[in-house]
This record gives sequence, structure tokens and C-alpha cells, in this order.
Amino acid sequence: MISTVLLFFQVTGSQSMLRPAGQGAARISVLGWIVFITLLVVAFIMWIIVAWIGLRRRGSFDIKPPYDPQGGQDWILSGGFIVPFIVLTVLFVLGLDTLSKFPMGAAADPPNPDIVVVGHQWWWEIRYHDGPVSDYFTTANEIHIPVHRMVNIELLSGDVIHSFWIPRIHGKEDTIPGQPNYIRIEANKVGIYRGQCAEFCGDQHAHMGMLLVAQTQSDYDKWVAGQQLPCATPITPDAQAGEQVFLHAACVLCHRVRGTLAGGTVAPDLTHIGSRMSLAADTLTNDKASLEAWITHAQSFKPGCQMPDITQFNGVQLRQLTAYLQQLK
Ligand code: CUA
Repeated sequence: MISTVLLFFQVTGSQSMLRPAGQGAARISVLGWIVFITLLVVAFIMWIIVAWIGLRRRGSFDIKPPYDPQGGQDWILSGGFIVPFIVLTVLFVLGLDTLSKFPMGAAADPPNPDIVVVGHQWWWEIRYHDGPVSDYFTTANEIHIPVHRMVNIELLSGDVIHSFWIPRIHGKEDTIPGQPNYIRIEANKVGIYRGQCAEFCGDQHAHMGMLLVAQTQSDYDKWVAGQQLPCATPITPDAQAGEQVFLHAACVLCHRVRGTLAGGTVAPDLTHIGSRMSLAADTLTNDKASLEAWITHAQSFKPGCQMPDITQFNGVQLRQLTAYLQQLK
């Protein structure tokens, strides 16, 4: 029962803003608790007063005159103006203080982001701008960052307004068409944190998740080095056949696999899809069964998404194709 309640409120999950693991989220959490406790106290006092009024001895004007012929002007002045003014002013100032302590985005001019995140219906494109242009790489729905290091992120949109939100790391920031936004995030603990689009953006808004992997600097460097490489060369016969299936199908029109002729850029880059934990913006776990299911029935999992149901493959081709995709680590 308790676990159900906790789960409902996402108190324990990897997406709980009540368990901050980043600098920004920690500040927001402190402010959140202050607001919550203040409002609890105010509500408690109000209920005490309401109870007092209800239980007070009553009479009629026939048997006793009103205590206060002016009708409680003081109550109206203090309860209706002075107390709310003080409470709201204090919260407002604390809110401004929290905002001012966030590391500002776009500190450099022109801004020099480490990562560019592009919101799409309904997935996240993640471009790493690290080192020379030849080292840039693009991935999807999974952001890796080193812990204890401030990371500059530029937020763009490919279509409509989305909102980038990893509750345990920082607050929300919108991705707006034609208007770059910036956010600086820092993770305090190694871990995997779930993020979610926080602005309604169409049918599959709820299935627009992402994972943020905060890792040690050395693990991060290893990951980056792996991602910068072109795709793995298929070794097993299944994977080799799967590469041909992939390259001769419509997949290549939308998806890119660096090192092959597949050069589509309107859908997630698949160069290292085998290394990712999830599929379809954290809708499915990344395993063989889910890959096959996603390729053949994407419209059942995310109705309205740009990925069509691909029904042209026979069983053998499908097995070969997934073998190929899985070895793209
Ligand atoms: Cu993207 Cu909601």
C-alpha cells in the first residue's frame, strides 16, 4: 500500500524531484519544501480558526448583542491582507534568490554548448559538440555527462514546443522553434536519471522520455571515444546479412549509421544504437524482442509517430536486421 502511494507520487523513482542529484534540483527541492511547509502551517492555522468559529458558543441578537459591532475589521485586515502579504513576499523573494543562484546558461558569447538537445515529436536528438568538428557525434534519447562538472546545453526544437526536464538534476527549460534556450546542469552523483518532456506536444507527449547517465570522468571519456567511432563492422553471418537488409530497406531514408551509406537525419542516429538502454524515447527497453516489436509495430506502441510499421521483412530478415542493430555498439 505504502509502496503504491510512494510510486504514485514518484517519491522513490529515478524521476523523483524529491531526491535531487544535481545542483539545480537541490535548490529547487529546498524551495519546494519551504513552500510546502509554509502552506501546511498556514492551512493548519486556518483550520484551527475555522474549528474555533464552529465550536464557539452561539446565541442570537435577542439574547446577546454582537461583541464587535464593527464586524471584525481587524480580522479582515490581518487575515486578508497583512498575513498573505508577508507570506507571499517571503516566498517570492526566496524564489528570486533560488533563481539567481542557478548557474546561468549561455554564459559565453557566442554561446558554446557542450551538448545540443533537439526536441522532436517524439524523441530527443542529442548532439555532442566536443573537440574539433570531425569529433562531433549525434545520439538519441540518452545523454551522458561526467559528474561534478557543469555541462552547457543548448535546447532547440525541430517542430513544436517541448520541455526538457530531468527532475533529479534540474528544473524545466522549454525547447522552442526558432529560439535557442540554454541550461547548465551538473550531477552530484553517479547514476541513471530519467527525464521526460514536460510540455504537451502532441499524441505521444507522454512517450517522450530520455535517460541521463551521469558517470565518472574516465567512464565518460571512454563512452565519448566509443561514440566518436563509426559503426562496428558486422562479424556474425546474421549481422552481415542484416546490414544488407538494412541498407536495402527504407530505414536509410530516415536513419543514419555513420560508416555506411545510411544518411537520413530526420530520425534517431543508429550508429551506436546497440549501446543504448532504451528504444523509442525510453518507451521500450533495448533488447531483441523489443527491437523486432518496434520495427514491425511502432504504430501500436506510439500511434501517430513518424516510424511506420515495417511489415516487408520475413522472419529471417527480421532476425538478421535485429542482429545487425544490436551489434552497433
Ligand atoms: Cu515533447 Cu511533450
